[in-house]
Amino acid sequence: LSRRAVLGGAGAGLAVGAAGGAWGGRASAQAPAAAGPGLGAARVPFHGARQGGITEPAQARVEWAAFDLLASTGRDGLAALLRGWSAAAARMAAGEPAAEGENQIALDAGPSSLTVTFGFGAGLFDKAGLADRRPAALAALPAFPGDALDPARSDGDLWVQVGADDALVAVHALRVLLRLATGLAAPRWLMSGFARTPGATPHPMTGRNLMGQVDGTNNPRPSDPDFEAAVFATGPDWMAGGSYAVLRRIRMLLEGWDTLPLDKQERIIGRRKSDGAPLSGGPGAVERTPVDLAATDPDGVLRIAPDAHVRVAAAASNGGAAMLRRGFSFHDGLLPDGSPDAGLLFAAYQADPARGFVPVQQRLARGDGLSRYLRHEASALFAVPPGAPAGGYVGQQLLE
Ligand code: HEM
Repeated sequence: LSRRAVLGGAGAGLAVGAAGGAWGGRASAQAPAAAGPGLGAARVPFHGARQGGITEPAQARVEWAAFDLLASTGRDGLAALLRGWSAAAARMAAGEPAAEGENQIALDAGPSSLTVTFGFGAGLFDKAGLADRRPAALAALPAFPGDALDPARSDGDLWVQVGADDALVAVHALRVLLRLATGLAAPRWLMSGFARTPGATPHPMTGRNLMGQVDGTNNPRPSDPDFEAAVFATGPDWMAGGSYAVLRRIRMLLEGWDTLPLDKQERIIGRRKSDGAPLSGGPGAVERTPVDLAATDPDGVLRIAPDAHVRVAAAASNGGAAMLRRGFSFHDGLLPDGSPDAGLLFAAYQADPARGFVPVQQRLARGDGLSRYLRHEASALFAVPPGAPAGGYVGQQLLE
């Protein structure tokens, strides 16, 4: 467990936003986040061995921004940008103004568990004269069956993820970071997402997605013996302690999904919709009852269907492939045909995408019952370097 994840809760003496957590166990282990002033005062320190925004529970609001480095920026300009970004992020995470005299749209709020996470895309390395230091794990993701990717909303040289439990705080931080990039990197795409607000449920619970399912239950947990090895990279040297983020904008075909009877919806996932309990566990099962992929009913029929999402995605079905999922919902209005432009901003963190996301998505795209109700519309892969020590900046190990 990263220093930050521990400090995030204990250092501030407040629960860091618990609902919609990256994994159910940690969320339920935390004290309920207080509504009112407690929510705004919660802090996640920017500096530490790991960047924030990976192992912390998903905040109520997220902003993703990808940038292309300008040709004139080069290595020194990139270092200046990352220095400026890190300094501003550290100040804002501490609840301080990002700069003197800035337009403080979040002036009245505390940091609200603000995290800022920076990532590097494959294209960055050539542009910054660092081609020889590009990690092999940043090799382009393969095309998957059914992909409907929009290049304009995919990829990018740099990625910034801003998460906070208050939308004004998140948007303010995003705008500060956009301004600091002026003349050095051009925004390529922006996406906004959300998860449940801490305090919205009577006690902390795993969040739900826009299909209504409890989502995040079977994520790897920091207490798992192989958590570190699955989620965090050991190399190249400058990436040790970092992670690789796979992002997918996945639109849900909600009109078709919403008309499915409940039992069909549950069969497609392999879990009960009401509480997320696995269908292999019988009526007494609860959300955290272990999934039994071999369980059959008295007629010998598998209780978790052959094409159920949890079976096809399980590490056991994919040679042990594991990733930490930390996605957010999006709802961006209506498409021209009147259907909702809504779904999941899927994010998965792993030590190596070739041993995490890629084999799992290869199987999901071919044989998963859920895929019929999804469209993968944008995709990106970023190296998320380790965190910065006090006084340092993210990416310093690469650039100096
Ligand atoms: C499990 C929904 C896309 C990988 C689950 C669960 C739900 C769910 C409800 C069960 C609860 C849990 O353990 O979290 C969705 C939805 C998706 C989506 C709505 C798209 C909009 C993906 C993608 C991947 C993925 C693209 C990876 C390529 C997994 C994994 C599990 C899981 C690894 C845990 C399986 C297990 O070991 O039990 N997902 N998922 N999911 N999903 Fe997805």
